[in-house]
Amino acid sequence: MNPKDFLPNPYRDLPAEGKVAWKAPSNIALVKYWGKKANQIPANPSISFTLDACATTTSIVYSRKEESSQFSFDLLLDGRPKDDFKPKIQTFFERIVDYVPFLTSYHFKIETSNSFPHSSGIASSASGMAALALCLLDIERKLDAKMDDVFFNKKASFLARLGSGSACRSIEGDLIQWGIHQEIPTSSDLFGIKYPFDVDSVFNNFHDTILLVHKGEKQVSSTVGHNLMHDHPYAARRFQQAHDNLNKLKEVFSKGDLESFIQIVESEALTLHAMMMTSNPYFILMKPDTLEIINKIWVYRKETKTPICFTLDAGANVHVLYPKSVKEKAIQFIQNELVAHCENGHYICDRIGKGARKLVENTQ
Ligand code: DP6
Repeated sequence: MNPKDFLPNPYRDLPAEGKVAWKAPSNIALVKYWGKKANQIPANPSISFTLDACATTTSIVYSRKEESSQFSFDLLLDGRPKDDFKPKIQTFFERIVDYVPFLTSYHFKIETSNSFPHSSGIASSASGMAALALCLLDIERKLDAKMDDVFFNKKASFLARLGSGSACRSIEGDLIQWGIHQEIPTSSDLFGIKYPFDVDSVFNNFHDTILLVHKGEKQVSSTVGHNLMHDHPYAARRFQQAHDNLNKLKEVFSKGDLESFIQIVESEALTLHAMMMTSNPYFILMKPDTLEIINKIWVYRKETKTPICFTLDAGANVHVLYPKSVKEKAIQFIQNELVAHCENGHYICDRIGKGARKLVENTQ
């Protein structure tokens, strides 16, 4: 597909007003997206588990306004005006207006809330942009009775990507791949797809316990980090490695090979941070407690042979991944040994989820 396929036919009979609401989950990448080209095109393919508990709920009340090229919207987070989020939404609207041109015909009251605390250091951009894209596309679906679910999910992912790259992997569950890969014929740089190959049942019920090591603002935003990959001395090799890891994962997923899965996932996490440490300027987002946790996971795994591993996103928090079959043991280990490294002992228990869902009927 190409971006033009997402341009709608001219609208007829725009409704005067209406309301939509969606809940979209966060996701955790196994092969990381780090580096991008113009128009939110990823420099390498990635794959993620869709999460369940960590999610953003967004509702939009829309009402017709005078036609003009300006956007008009109010933004509330947890019921309170959140003006410092507005520039991000403004940029998002500018990027997507050609694909959802009704944006200039309405005033929008956008109300949003996250299931996880705002100060947790967990990125809300993936779930937040996914929920917003789904709400907007739901408004458009009212105008196009022929839009089926397959196209709806693709276009929602396409729009979400233009808000935040990783958000395109937060529309559906439970294993989502994004970015062109030679061995995955349906893969696209424009939207995420459900992983199209066999996946052993051991991966069906994976758990992700998120250890909140550092809840403050990150020193370096993802956007800045992505840009530093442009002149990065190891960029080309890293992008090739992501392709290779996706290749390897095909057999790993089909055979349920947890040992190789762990090796690939942990290597991806450390490579992501190695890219940050070797960029110009260089930076470190891990904290001493991040490294303590990683070491304890390695010792525990070696001693007990429990298939438990870690991954990291662009921050100090640690995602501890393990299959449901070892849940009791894993939680015990986390509580006994790892929680001491979390800020105020805070952690979030999450697991693989099925994707976003609509919350109320579109009452146009
Ligand atoms: C480290 O999707 O937050 O979490 O496209 O600039 O919004 P933008 O970046 P973003 O980057 C996520 C990076 C990552 C890895 C991943 O999720 O694949």
